[in-house]
Amino acid sequence: MSEDQALEDARERITDYRDRIQHLDENSIALLFSEARNHNWWQNKDVSEDQLREIWDMMKYGSTSSNTQPARLIFIRSEKAKERLKPCLAPSNVDKTMAAPVTALLAYDNDFHEDFAQNYPVRPEMADRFRNDAAVAEKFAFQQSTLQGAYLIMAIRAVGLDAGAMGGFNADLADQTFLSGKNWKSNFLCNIGYGDLEGIKGPRLYRYDFDEVCTVI
Ligand SMILES: Cc1cc2nc3c(=O)[nH]c(=O)nc-3n(C[C@H](O)[C@H](O)[C@H](O)COP(=O)(O)O)c2cc1C
Repeated sequence: MSEDQALEDARERITDYRDRIQHLDENSIALLFSEARNHNWWQNKDVSEDQLREIWDMMKYGSTSSNTQPARLIFIRSEKAKERLKPCLAPSNVDKTMAAPVTALLAYDNDFHEDFAQNYPVRPEMADRFRNDAAVAEKFAFQQSTLQGAYLIMAIRAVGLDAGAMGGFNADLADQTFLSGKNWKSNFLCNIGYGDLEGIKGPRLYRYDFDEVCTVI
């Protein structure tokens, strides 16, 4: 299919879905945002590889700067892999993580710029800025993969699962354990499963109102 045809088809699809939906309904907003919580304990119910693929197939559409997509995901699911993860975890995160059906290690690829020609063919020369400065590349990869981490959490919720994000772990040890031989670094961990509400230990914590933190100028 030609580029022009693909563009025309995309515009038609966008027009079509916007005719069908203009705003998420209350239930969808509750599922994704207003009633969604960070989960700490898990029902004894498996998460399939198909569900993990569905999560990726949703989150991959989240925008990143210059379409760079530096996030890499390692889904830690087998007992053997979980045992390797255990020593990386902060003590308060051990039990919940060992009980979770899957733990995603969200990493970022510092060599993301090697895919520039494929991912951002309009300006492939932009790769040089990152190729020539590893510190700039890493800062960018961390920023963009964190965005993708937020898309990950929302996609987990969108498929009816629960997420338990965790920054409490030894990232250097996780890098050595799971990312050796790659120019990747750990960003954060996220447990995935069907949350057990007994693990929710309190009501929602304070959230800022619009007027406290937002300005319209
Ligand atoms: C990136 C990230 C890292 C987090 N790290 C941890 C963690 O290491 N341990 C933990 O118990 N909770 C962790 N949390 C959970 C937050 O503390 C929790 O989302 C916050 O208190 C708000 O709770 P709520 O999402 O249920 O409203 C993390 C959340 C995010 C998004």
